[in-house]
Amino acid sequence: MTWSLLQDWLDFGLRWLHVVAAIFWVGLALGFLRLNLNLKSSRADVWRAADDGFFHISRDMNAPADSQPQIGWFRWEAYVVWLSGFGLMSLQYFLHADLYLVDLRLLPMSPPQAVGVALAGLAVGWLVYDFLCKAPFGWNETTRRAAIFVFLVAVAYACSRLFSGRGAFLEFGAILGTIMAANVAHVLVPNQRKMLAAVRAGAPPDEKRFAASRQRALHNNYLAPSVVFLMLSNHYPLAFAGRYNWIVASLALIAGASARHFFIARHRGQGDLWWTWGVAAMAAAAMVAASTLGSGCDCPLIAPRDATEALAAAVAPRFAQVEAIVAARCAVCHAREPAWSGLAAPPKGVRLDTPAFIRAHALDIARQAVWTRAMPPPGVDTGMNDTDRARLAAWLKAGATLD
Ligand code: HEC
Repeated sequence: MTWSLLQDWLDFGLRWLHVVAAIFWVGLALGFLRLNLNLKSSRADVWRAADDGFFHISRDMNAPADSQPQIGWFRWEAYVVWLSGFGLMSLQYFLHADLYLVDLRLLPMSPPQAVGVALAGLAVGWLVYDFLCKAPFGWNETTRRAAIFVFLVAVAYACSRLFSGRGAFLEFGAILGTIMAANVAHVLVPNQRKMLAAVRAGAPPDEKRFAASRQRALHNNYLAPSVVFLMLSNHYPLAFAGRYNWIVASLALIAGASARHFFIARHRGQGDLWWTWGVAAMAAAAMVAASTLGSGCDCPLIAPRDATEALAAAVAPRFAQVEAIVAARCAVCHAREPAWSGLAAPPKGVRLDTPAFIRAHALDIARQAVWTRAMPPPGVDTGMNDTDRARLAAWLKAGATLD
């Protein structure tokens, strides 16, 4: 009990640190790229107005001499984001892999196996991405980006076949986050150090290193929006729990990168590429369509799927029947004192152990257990079947009453 409570606070503390550090990192990365591109496009220096003054910023290829004050490096923001993120992932997704990672319907992995696969995924993701960045195939930057995109779609697909929807999105986000942090640790920072040493020694800076740093900084910029999407997705089962969740994740990459491209082109002085917003909007619309197609939703616009027969047959049940389903399939975890071992409190504060709570959470029940099959966690066998879901659907349709 005490450990579970402490774990909850540790979880919250790490989440706080993670989000604050991520704001710093992404803010700096976006801000620096903007300055960098501004400075390259025609102007030699830029002016910026900020709270208490005007800042005159210029690029200087002459590094300060050894005796001058230390250059400020920006790297700890990235490392803290990765470390706190890894801590959070371990606390929730690895310690409770049965609740978060495993999907028994897809692959009957044991929790330690799922954790092993997830850890390997982080390493393999970075190694293949890094190889594609350097691959000596005579690719130009566009071909390289296309190859990286295809690889990332394959990763999204693999995650969706290995893990529960919740787990797949988190793992995919963690793989992208690891790529971004490793870009800082393995490319950007070492390159800066080497360039500084070269300039101090009077040698010209190595254009190849510049190119590599520019490439990785740009990739990080393009990836940042979709990583945030994936990290926030766990409250939105329509995004992660459908059968086409990997398409939703891939479209998020397109939408995020496309929106970023607008600003990158603008900072470069290439004008306003309004079409990028068209692409982002189409990707977003396709995400909604893909999520609805792949969920259990009885949507009038879209051809219904497997549970529909059961749905059509279901007559609105009495509340007592609904209560019995929820008691058997949900309340092991969603009760004041969960019977499920390792849970100190009802997950996300959602209690489903009294009629009033069930009624109050009717829409949540719809989202998690009817429109999608996100709950009960697919790594746990509660015996929930399509008839149960159809009964819940019929109850919701008839107004979710208590009689
Ligand atoms: C074995 C334990 C378990 C069972 C059984 C279970 N849940 Fe959950 N539920 C969880 C966990 C763990 C979370 C937290 C997920 C997260 O952190 O994203 C959760 C979260 C939720 C949430 C909140 C989601 C959010 O993001 O705010 C709702 C609503 C929910 N469950 C409904 C249900 C319903 C309805 C059932 C039964 C059909 C059910 N759960 C069965 C463990 C369970």
